[in-house]
Amino acid sequence: MPPAPRQASPGTLKAYLARSFTNLVEAKISERYQVLKNPSGCAMNAEQLASNALHCDYLFVSATEHVSRLVFETLAGSLKAVATLSVGFNHVDIDTARAHGVAVFNSPDVLTDACAEIAMLLILNAARRAHEGEMLVRSGQWPGWAPTQLLGLGLVGKRLGILGMGRIGQAVADRARSFGVDVHYHNRKPLPRDSEKGAVYHDTPESLLGVSDIFLITAPGTPDLARFLNRRRIELLPPNAIVVNIARGEMIDDDALIDALLGKKIFAAGLDVFDHEPDVDPRYLTLDNVFLTPHIGSATEDTRNAMGLILLEGLHAFETGQVARNRVC
Ligand code: DGY
Repeated sequence: MPPAPRQASPGTLKAYLARSFTNLVEAKISERYQVLKNPSGCAMNAEQLASNALHCDYLFVSATEHVSRLVFETLAGSLKAVATLSVGFNHVDIDTARAHGVAVFNSPDVLTDACAEIAMLLILNAARRAHEGEMLVRSGQWPGWAPTQLLGLGLVGKRLGILGMGRIGQAVADRARSFGVDVHYHNRKPLPRDSEKGAVYHDTPESLLGVSDIFLITAPGTPDLARFLNRRRIELLPPNAIVVNIARGEMIDDDALIDALLGKKIFAAGLDVFDHEPDVDPRYLTLDNVFLTPHIGSATEDTRNAMGLILLEGLHAFETGQVARNRVC
């Protein structure tokens, strides 16, 4: 673990704020540090981040900033910690952070409920054809109720397969059970029996796919899961399956998923995350059986406040030599 910045009191530390955070969080950061803020508040690339944050001790970023080797090398000598307003930290080069003795903090736990809600929203909307229904009403062409109009899939008795049964996966499972869904999951290791709450463990993702009427990706965006859901694995899903992704867009092979949606190999998808955000593959926009949201898993005011505050909590622990619950390295 890198040493805490004992040579400086918080008020003298310089923090670079790469995105606009909530008012409450920005005010708290400014109370503690000398803040240099990205005036546009928009996402920036690694080169921009590195040159804008020269001489800063801390970086406050989000999942839209790639905190790459270049950033660590450019800021070497001043940078002591990176705090990312996200539970995922695949955008931070953790090995290089370690090599440069830079601590990294993320914002776990406090976004669990918000993300689980979005997972349920995607599942329900995909299953019940909400996009098509809304378009029909908004078009002014709705002919009125009809016995065979917009027939969707009910959730009762369906098997929900969760890839990545961490805190968010378990929170989705808790909610899904109340809809009458049976929960299955795959992790590297099974959960302790009392945390499973009856969920069925599968020791391979392939076995999980085979029973997933609804397949939900909540696993962290590690390189080994890039393009995880490819053609071969989509073939393993039962007929009329639903695919939902709230993790990272890179985990899906878009060509394979779009072909499966077009060919009705699967019933529908619900996607909150995309490869190359914000450039969503335009083919998704033409498909009726996809429900799309713009990476809003943790987007509530309370959650974004809590995410910012847990970063400050981690940095405070760092400065005072205590153990932080959200320290990644
Ligand atoms: C996260 O917290 O990782 C969300 O995806 C937002 O970036």
